Amino acid sequence: MDRIIDGVRYPWVISDEILTAMETFEVRNDDIWVITYPKAGTTWMQEIVSVLFHGCDFQKADEVSILRRFTFLDLNRPNDFNLPTDIARERESRRLLKTHLPHQHMAKQLSVKKPKIVYVGRNPKDNAVSLYHFHRSNSYLRSFDHWDDFFDAFCADDVAYGSWFEMNKYWWNRRNEENVLFVKYEDMKKDLTSVIERVAAFFDWKIPDGRIQEVVQHCSFGSMKNNPKVNFSDGVHVDHAISAFMRKGVVGDWKNYFTIIQNEKFDKMYREKMKNTDLSFEFE
Ligand code: A3P
Repeated sequence: MDRIIDGVRYPWVISDEILTAMETFEVRNDDIWVITYPKAGTTWMQEIVSVLFHGCDFQKADEVSILRRFTFLDLNRPNDFNLPTDIARERESRRLLKTHLPHQHMAKQLSVKKPKIVYVGRNPKDNAVSLYHFHRSNSYLRSFDHWDDFFDAFCADDVAYGSWFEMNKYWWNRRNEENVLFVKYEDMKKDLTSVIERVAAFFDWKIPDGRIQEVVQHCSFGSMKNNPKVNFSDGVHVDHAISAFMRKGVVGDWKNYFTIIQNEKFDKMYREKMKNTDLSFEFE
């Protein structure tokens, strides 16, 4: 069942056992972590990292599904045989790891060790709409029949993984640490080439001469939507007939959902919650 732990709502697929195991999870300095609030563009960044990690060899990068390339540390249905933290412990370096866990439930060593961490943030209106559809299509998450109900829950931090604000502000505050790269979804949409170059430089990886545009093309929405190794077609818990995992991939879809009143309410809350930070997002 869904439950709230330290103010964070967790779906049943994140067991108490995994939250306990994460506290003492051994981080390696050469780990590669992709951390996001859910639906911020995690898979997109994972694919970029994978491709660059494999020297732009697309076949090698996509040999296995993205669901297996990165160990998703949080996902642990109570009866699963292995904890993802145990699976990760058995993995050879360099490990590719993914998590949406908020800082209060993150591996303690993540503040001590220096693995490379790529954080992706997305404007909260589009992030909310994307998460709404994921709550509907993903059998692991409680469903919402109406956008209005989801909107209220999102504003109350009462959705999977809790507060968008807390998570994004936390990683923004850590953005200048040498092992942290903070990337915005909207920048990826605007200029994917530059973002891919930033990611490569962050890891100190070289993109072979003349190959960057191939990487951009490979990681484009259209290409990823049709790529069975990244489009979650093997994610049995996602009903693509309700909402495709690669749904729209745009900035500004929130305008098709937010009513004028919801937008005013959200803007007021946004101003209040973001008043002590210089983190800002583009909404269109
Ligand atoms: P939408 O639901 O708005 O379409 P995550 O991987 O964190 O679950 O995020 C999923 C969101 O990222 C979805 O947003 C999905 O369409 C979008 N996305 C995935 N790959 C993308 C790409 N190559 N370009 C643009 N958006 C992408």
